[in-house]
Amino acid sequence: MAVQAGFHDDGERLGRDELAALQLTRLRATLHRAYERVPFYRKAFDKAGVHPDDCRSLADLALFPLTTKADLRDQYPFGMFAVPRSEVRRIHASSGTTGRPTVVGYTDGDLSTWSDVVARSIRAAGGRPGQIVHVAYGYGLFTGGLGAHYGAERLGCTVVPASGGMTDRQVRLIEDFRPEVIMVTPSYMLTLLDEMERQGIDPRTTSLRTGIFGAEPWTEEMRREIEERLDMDAVDIYGLSEVIGPGVAQECVETKDGLHIWEDHFYPEVVDPLTGAVLPEGEPGELVFTSLTREAMPVIRYRTRDLTRLLPGTARPSFRRMAKITGRSDDMIILRGVNLYPTQIEEILLRTPGLAPHFQLRLAREGRMDTLTVRVEARRESDTALREAAAAGVVQAVKAGIGVSVRVEVVDPETLERSVGKIKRLVDLRAPGRPPTP
Ligand code: DLL
Repeated sequence: MAVQAGFHDDGERLGRDELAALQLTRLRATLHRAYERVPFYRKAFDKAGVHPDDCRSLADLALFPLTTKADLRDQYPFGMFAVPRSEVRRIHASSGTTGRPTVVGYTDGDLSTWSDVVARSIRAAGGRPGQIVHVAYGYGLFTGGLGAHYGAERLGCTVVPASGGMTDRQVRLIEDFRPEVIMVTPSYMLTLLDEMERQGIDPRTTSLRTGIFGAEPWTEEMRREIEERLDMDAVDIYGLSEVIGPGVAQECVETKDGLHIWEDHFYPEVVDPLTGAVLPEGEPGELVFTSLTREAMPVIRYRTRDLTRLLPGTARPSFRRMAKITGRSDDMIILRGVNLYPTQIEEILLRTPGLAPHFQLRLAREGRMDTLTVRVEARRESDTALREAAAAGVVQAVKAGIGVSVRVEVVDPETLERSVGKIKRLVDLRAPGRPPTP
């Protein structure tokens, strides 16, 4: 790969053996750092009867205990920090929709690492120094905006820190500044697309050629929808605040075949979500990360709740890939004994003629029965006959493909609430606290 001025990155050039040796050195240092500096980890390792010196190979990581979001919450606010607070240069936090937020801290070194991995991600997506990057991820405690921002600067791009919201102004900025790259959630990209059309702008005539979409699950069908409407390459970026933020893994534009994990900084495992046992490569399960270079807040075997599988590298052969995320274990809907994820519904809706990519799932209870209603917008040009055929087609495809009956309501264009950041697909109207019927 050509060396780009301003951003030098040795990590991407490592061979697989060199990478494995580097990972082991970094892993051992991280385990020691966690054990010696974070009382939570010392207690957890002692309780499990393991010591950092027991880690002699990468496989030995499986001896160490898993860490959950609840563990991090219990240490609110600063209990997971491995450095004095004065060395923490920045704080981010998860939104904390349930209870306390999870707090993450970064040293100067962590912020630099983060910029590097995001710069590497943008370049893998097709972005180049000198291009204009429009960042429409939210700025604030959420890691999306600032993470993307500093990564784009590190690569040598011109950054437009638009943040989320004020959609009409965003479209004007895109028209006037002519960015080549946009970084935004895929659901907010759809909102921007609709706004362009509302203003009479053909999205294919805009300057945007690279879309770096993440922070929520999205499907191949959604990629096709966005690429066709925008004449761009749409690629996936993954990350989570507990591990660093965006830039943990990135899809490469030349292959678009899942996300290469930047394994020189983040060590992945996939475990059985029920037993926690490590699964062989290729098996689907819950993604777990151990940070290899974090200073302020190392994480050891952090359970992401994200479901995927590990695959060998392609465009970056030394780094393993993860398949696109199917969903989070806590997004799983159990409908009359059948497990389903919103992404499965998305796939079906976007394959059905006459339906727009805007939908919401409503889970309700009637008597002792749980029911799922898929509310989806019609495309502007769909007439009544097409809408009816579409609704019937979706009912049938869900029954055949997922094995459960759902209701489908095709609603008028622009009636469902639009996303400005991470979209919430599921509305649960059942009485709180009552478990679903089996
Ligand atoms: O969403 C970080 C991020 C920002 C990633 C911008 C990509 C782009 P959190 O708010 O901590 O951090 O949420 C992390 O979002 O565990 C996944 O469930 C979900 N998620 C993130 N990226 C993807 C993706 C940011 N590409 C949680 N596909 C994660 C599917 C994703 N889900």
